[in-house]
Amino acid sequence: MQGLEEIIKQAESAIHSAEDLKSLDHIRVHYLGKKGELTDYLKTLGQLPPEERPAAGQKINAAKEAVSALLEKRSNAFKKIAIENQLAAEAIDVTLPGRTLANGSLHPIMQASDDLRRIFGRMGFTFLEGPEIEEDKYNFESLNIPKHHPARAMQDTFYFSDGLLLRTHMSPVQIRAMEKMTPPLRIVALGRVYRRDFDITHTPMFHQMECLMIDKNVSFADLKSLMTHFLHEFFSPDTPIRFRPSYFPFTEPSAEVDMGCLNCKGSGCRICKNTGWLEILGCGMVHPNVLNGAGIDSKKYRGFACGVGVDRLALLKYSISDLRALFENDLRFLRQF
Ligand code: DAH
Repeated sequence: MQGLEEIIKQAESAIHSAEDLKSLDHIRVHYLGKKGELTDYLKTLGQLPPEERPAAGQKINAAKEAVSALLEKRSNAFKKIAIENQLAAEAIDVTLPGRTLANGSLHPIMQASDDLRRIFGRMGFTFLEGPEIEEDKYNFESLNIPKHHPARAMQDTFYFSDGLLLRTHMSPVQIRAMEKMTPPLRIVALGRVYRRDFDITHTPMFHQMECLMIDKNVSFADLKSLMTHFLHEFFSPDTPIRFRPSYFPFTEPSAEVDMGCLNCKGSGCRICKNTGWLEILGCGMVHPNVLNGAGIDSKKYRGFACGVGVDRLALLKYSISDLRALFENDLRFLRQF
């Protein structure tokens, strides 16, 4: 039985110096496992005289319980430390300020485009698209601008080698719509157009919106009221508007629309070149040659069309002075909208 005392002492010191749960488990197996020291000890009972066995058995069992209790105590201490460590590591300071989300915003041209879609959509116009790489036929020929027509010189075109070009305006979508759809029709197309031009009021790529309406009794009065309504909706209902006679090969009669300068309210300033007016769009009654060419009987149907510079609308609406700022992607500029 002296050996037993010795074993308990050893177990005690081993448990005391164990560093983690894993080494505690090794200790448990070493003393209490199937082949453990205390288990072996129990097996030696048979060698004792029968009258000594009960007392010896009790001692050994007491020793086993003592060792178990020590193991459990130490293991609970380890578990507690582990939980405390985990809690400390996962602690969240709810008083810290949150991370701010960087909010994006729509580009001024997008905002203007959305407004136009809303205004024309509400008046029953459908939005169409057309290709940016266009055929000469759609960009010029079918719009009553034949090969040597002087109007071609007004538009500095980017040509490809095989009769293709970058569309110089959105009017080709008119022709594509007339070919595809049967009147009555109301369509709008908004997209990028390209010209060889670059200064404070011109960029080689810019945006236009084209609108076309064809029906049996469409008149210039309809055109006038639609343009007025559109500009009043886009800017404000008290914006003065005037129509000036003009010339476009694909419309007859044609007009240009001016609106009162938003900057000086008509008294004259640098932006309106002291006229009090800003030129804002071109429009007119669709030329019979254009209708007939696209397979629509000009004796039965009439139409009007208009073309607007979307970038210019955005400049005016948001009081931006340099068109080029729209395309430089300077965040300090864009964050203002
Ligand atoms: N396509 C013309 C341009 O780019 C703008 C235009 C003028 C469009 C009159 C029209 C129109 O539909 O009727 O300069």
